[in-house]
Amino acid sequence: MTDKYIDLVSQGLGKNVAKKLGLPQPVVLRRHQPGAPLVEGPVLVNGDSVGADDLATTLLGWGLDVRRNALPKEKLGAIILVMDAVQHPEDLGKPVLTVGASLRDLAPNARIITVSRTAHSASTPAAAAARQGIDGLLRSLAKELRAGTTGNGIILSEDLATTSPSVLGSLRFFLSGRSAYVDGQFLTVTGPSGSLPADFDKPLAGKVAVVTGAARGIGASIARTLHRDGAKVVAVDIPAAGDHLAAVANEVHGTALQLDISREDAGQRIIGHAVERHGRLDIVVHNAGITRDRLLANMDEGRWQSVIAVNIAAQLRINEALLASEHFKASPRIVSVASTSGIAGNRGQTNYGASKAAVIGMVRSTAPLMEPCGGTINAVAPGFIETEMTARMPLAIREAARRANTLRQGGQPQDVAEAIAFLASDSAGGISGEVLRVCGQQLVGA
Ligand code: NAI
Repeated sequence: MTDKYIDLVSQGLGKNVAKKLGLPQPVVLRRHQPGAPLVEGPVLVNGDSVGADDLATTLLGWGLDVRRNALPKEKLGAIILVMDAVQHPEDLGKPVLTVGASLRDLAPNARIITVSRTAHSASTPAAAAARQGIDGLLRSLAKELRAGTTGNGIILSEDLATTSPSVLGSLRFFLSGRSAYVDGQFLTVTGPSGSLPADFDKPLAGKVAVVTGAARGIGASIARTLHRDGAKVVAVDIPAAGDHLAAVANEVHGTALQLDISREDAGQRIIGHAVERHGRLDIVVHNAGITRDRLLANMDEGRWQSVIAVNIAAQLRINEALLASEHFKASPRIVSVASTSGIAGNRGQTNYGASKAAVIGMVRSTAPLMEPCGGTINAVAPGFIETEMTARMPLAIREAARRANTLRQGGQPQDVAEAIAFLASDSAGGISGEVLRVCGQQLVGA
C-alpha cells in the first residue's frame, strides 16, 4: 500500500505548508538496490581506539571515502562513533560532542552508527555506566535525526575485535539501504563466527531457504529478497492460498509447498520437500502469522487458541523437527517474525501479543541449542508495515499508527525482508538469540 502523504509533503506547496504548520514531514527512504553504493558520501570514523583505527582501515579497503576528522561543510554519508574503549561516563563527552558538531552537515538518508561493548561484562561500575550510557544516547539521538537519517548501534562482547565478521556484517547492514526502516536499535554480536560473502550482492548464494506464509504480504517480499540475494526459495502457505503461492514461487524460480504449518507433521514435510527438491536446507523463516483481535472481555477460545497455534506452537514444533534433523546441521539459520505488539503490547491483541512475545522467548532459549552446529536463531519485530493487514485498519487509527515513529511513516514489507535476509546470511553468524525491531523507532515501547 502506498502512503500518498509522503508524496504530498515531499515537494512544492505541500512541503511548505507542512513545514509552516509543523506537520510530520516523512521523506522517501533510501532502500537497497543491487549494485547501489553502500553509503552516499564520505564516512567519518570517530574515535581514537585501536578498534576505531582497524575499522577505518577496513572501510578504506571497501573503497569508502573515509574521514578521521570532519571537514568544514562537507556533507557526510555516515558517522561511525567508535566507543569500544570507554571507561567512564565522562569519556563520552568528547566523541559525542564532536559528532554533534557534524550533525548539520549530514547528507539526506545518512547513517549514525555507534560501536560499543556490552555493559554487563564491564569490569568496573564506571565502565558499565559508560557503556549503558551509549544506549540512552543513541536512542535519544536517533529521535533528533531528520530527512531519513537513522541512528543504530553495534554492541560487541568483551574480547571481540571491531573487525570480526559479524561486526562488519552489521556495519554494512546499518550503512546500507537494507536498514532503511531500522532506527534507534542495537545489534549485539556475541561470537567470532560468520564470514563475509564473496559477492556482497549475492550473500545467500548456494543456500536453500524456506519461507512460511509466502503467498502474500511480508512473506512474499521475504521470498523475493532471499531470491534476489542468491537463495533457492521454498515458498510455504496454506492450500487455500495455492494460486498466489504458485505465482510467488514461479516469480522467484523456487518451489511451492502447500502446507498448514500448524499440522503435526509440518516440520517433516518442510525438511522432506527441501531435501527432495533442492538437496539441502539452510534457512527457515517463520513468517506465517494471523491476528484474531478482540478485547479480552470479548475473547473466545477459538480466537485465542488459533493465534497461539499458528504464531508460536507451530514454530516450536517445526524447530524441534529441524533441530533433530541431520539435514539442518551446516551453520543453519532460523529467523522468526515477532511484532512490536509482543514488546510494547497492543489494545485488543492479548492473544497476538502473547504469541509474539512467546516468539521472542522461544528464540532466546533456542539460541544455545543451535550453537553446536554453528547455527543461529533470531527474531525480527516489525512495527507498522504497509500491508493488506494494515490497509484494513480504520483510516484515523491507521494514520496515527503510521506516523507514531521517528521516521513518521510506515515501513515497507521489503524493510522487514532485508533484516531477515541479513540475519539469515553467513555475515550474521556471530548474532544469535537477538530481536531486531524494524519499526522506524516506534514511539510506543521503544
Ligand atoms: P498476511 O496476513 O498478509 O500474510 C500472512 C500469510 O501467512 C498469508 O499468506 C497466510 O495465508 C499465511 N498463513 C496464515 N496461517 C497459516 C498457516 N497455518 N500455515 C501456513 N501459512 C499460513 O500478513 P503480513 O502482514 O504479511 O504479516 C506477516 C508476518 O508479519 C506475520 O507473522 C505478522 O504477525 C507479522 N507482522 C506484521 C505486521 C504488519 O504491520 N503487517 C506488523 C508486525 C508483525
